Amino acid sequence: MQVPEGSVTLRLPPGSLPQVTRGPASRAPVFYNPGMSFTRDLDVAFLTRWSELKGRRMSVWEPLAASGVRSLRLLQETPAVERLSAGELQPEALRFLRRNLGPDPRATVFSHDAREPAPEGPYDWVDLDPYGTPAPFLPAALTSLAPGGVLAVTATDTAVLAGPERSTCEQRYGARPLRNYLCREAGLRILIGHVARRVHERGGSIRPLAAYARDHHFRAYLEVRAEPAPLELKVVPWEGYPGPPIDRGHRGGPLWVDRLFDPDFLSGTLPPPSAERPREIGRWLELFRGEATLPLLFYYTIGEVAKALHLDRPPSRPELFRRLTQAGYAAVPTHLDPEGWRTDARWQELAGLLTGKGPSVPRAEPPR
Ligand SMILES: C[S@@+](CC[C@H](N)C(=O)[O-])C[C@H]1O[C@@H](n2cnc3c(N)ncnc32)[C@H](O)[C@@H]1O
Repeated sequence: MQVPEGSVTLRLPPGSLPQVTRGPASRAPVFYNPGMSFTRDLDVAFLTRWSELKGRRMSVWEPLAASGVRSLRLLQETPAVERLSAGELQPEALRFLRRNLGPDPRATVFSHDAREPAPEGPYDWVDLDPYGTPAPFLPAALTSLAPGGVLAVTATDTAVLAGPERSTCEQRYGARPLRNYLCREAGLRILIGHVARRVHERGGSIRPLAAYARDHHFRAYLEVRAEPAPLELKVVPWEGYPGPPIDRGHRGGPLWVDRLFDPDFLSGTLPPPSAERPREIGRWLELFRGEATLPLLFYYTIGEVAKALHLDRPPSRPELFRRLTQAGYAAVPTHLDPEGWRTDARWQELAGLLTGKGPSVPRAEPPR
């Protein structure tokens, strides 16, 4: 069968299209999830931008390539690719991967175990898009990456990073998931923190270009530098933590507390003309750019603030933004929750503004 996505037409064996398009796809003979076209639209946008910033074309390694849809779209939808290698182990997927990428002279397909370093590396851009956790593939991916290259990494084990599977999270990522409404941001930050630790052990450091949570997956685009930098991962809430209240019994982390978004990188990132969902991509890039202006840990929702402060009649979001702005604070919406927003007002300041009582609400309790 032939399936269109973006500007490409993909060859797949019959029965490869899942019925559910926004959730995790079932394991068809050759994996293909149309619901993840959003991530591939973003890949095209981000690789294009990265190549423009570096002033040259890039080498790309996709070790878990399945049908090859991601690689094919990168080859056909951006001038950024100089050469691309794709790997896969499953024989039927490999057969279709060869059919899909074969005609392009810049592409090479390998029967390759993603737990081993890439053939013909290193590469400027490595994409890890596994079933579930990327953890077993990280060491090989990092070895395959050129200094200053970008690791694009997905995790779909949301029940582990942001859900009830706490002990698995501790074993897999060395961190505890958070148990309140902020668990998705915490899960994204646990994933980034895990990569940062692996890179730090090798003497390098990371710089996130963009990172997000959507539907059933987390995804991060991380520049991996050869130069070391101090690594600060924290358990929340720490002593003096200024953000949304977190119960003492709900501690999470250690997690990445630094930026999720690079403003310069995002300022020139455009929805690709070939995007499957151009308006949605444009809207999300706008949200990312807004969040890049306030690189703060965690966000608020009116509902949670009203609950914490026992407000009978909480303000609407426009009213709240107006009051914050008048008081000299900034506020931006977040991609993580349609009701969520980040602000540089500390919790006590926000509480004072909303109750009219000044900064009287006690800080979250420090970790014991
Ligand atoms: C989630 S799918 C990849 C989806 C693909 N990146 C896309 O955008 O459509 C994961 C793929 O990894 C392959 N895979 C799993 N373990 C592997 C390993 N150790 N080495 C190589 N490929 C592997 C599976 O056969 C499957 O096709």
